Amino acid sequence: MDPHDIVLHLYKAGLLSSDDVKIETLQGGVSSDIHLVSDGKNSFVIKRALAKLRVVDDWYADVSRNQVEQAYLQYVDKLMPGSVPAILHSDRNLGFFVMEYFGDEYLNWKDLLLRNDVNPQHAKEAARFLGRVHRQSWHDDRVSRNFDTTQNFFDLRIEPYLLATAKRHAPLSNYFEEEAKRMRETRICLVHGDFSPKNILIGPDRMIVLDCEVAWYGEPAFDLAFMMNHFLLKSLHFAPDWESYLALIDDFWGTYYSVLAYVHDTADLEGRVAHLLLMLFLARIDGKSQAEYITDGYKKDIVRRFVTRLLPLHELRLADLVGEWRAELRSHEKHWKEY
Ligand SMILES: Nc1ncnc2c1ncn2[C@@H]1O[C@H](COP(=O)(O)OP(=O)(O)O)[C@@H](O)[C@H]1O
Ligand SMILES: [Mg+2]
Repeated sequence: MDPHDIVLHLYKAGLLSSDDVKIETLQGGVSSDIHLVSDGKNSFVIKRALAKLRVVDDWYADVSRNQVEQAYLQYVDKLMPGSVPAILHSDRNLGFFVMEYFGDEYLNWKDLLLRNDVNPQHAKEAARFLGRVHRQSWHDDRVSRNFDTTQNFFDLRIEPYLLATAKRHAPLSNYFEEEAKRMRETRICLVHGDFSPKNILIGPDRMIVLDCEVAWYGEPAFDLAFMMNHFLLKSLHFAPDWESYLALIDDFWGTYYSVLAYVHDTADLEGRVAHLLLMLFLARIDGKSQAEYITDGYKKDIVRRFVTRLLPLHELRLADLVGEWRAELRSHEKHWKEY
């Protein structure tokens, strides 16, 4: 659908008050068309899901995830008002919704991390957000029925991250396939599904979480590992200045755990997170959604060897995984000096 048609629609809905309308395409979207619409007085963001994603490999997904995104935004807005964009208008038939726009005073967390602007408070706040969503929805049948989106999660996460990576690493494929099967059958709480720094805006007094179209009632370890994977990848990207990124893993896990522990049974959650984290780490090197900033073949090989070595270990603690990774990074001292 042409953005101009959407604007016409917004006029009819009474959202625009002047005809001096500017439409701008927002950068960053791989799975949706995202436009910023301003009429001089008000600004909104229009989001519409694409059937074919903008990535290197062919990758298709069901556009009904636009509805799923709205359902997640509504659920979380009730729980923590102001932590996600408010929905201002939506049209089920045309497959889009309009949300409030967060302007220049909101910075994308991924941009901050890639600028070496690392703040433990950001990781803690993200963990508190996630912990509260997981805690609230834990074994809640009603939420489970509303987010029965396993097929979508399979298409957008399990297949491109786990199964695509398994195909490129035959000796490890059993681990990936077993994990894919286990995830398909797990129903514990409401998972965001794309909980990464690029989908979090850091504002002057609060954090805003975006992009929940992969929301799924399933395995909480996924959101945790998905976020921590970004910290691991940044530690590699910034080698030998990895320490501040590695510290975020501990900040994130510690805060999340303090929200969940003693409320729900989290006994073996840490081991599941660590196991999945290793797989997602390799997935960002060799799966369908590769980290665009890891271009050095030497670095990619470090990840391949590291994951191959650690994946067979059982019930790995996160602190041990981080310790092993730090030791691995240190063992390449010569490379970092020459690099
Ligand atoms: N409501 C909003 N206010 C400000 N920026 C936004 C808003 N929604 C999206 N963006 C920007 O557009 C980018 C892409 O939007 P997102 O919802 O993450 O789409 P995609 O699913 O395609 O990744 C975000 O990373 C963010 O930078
Ligand atoms: Mg996004």
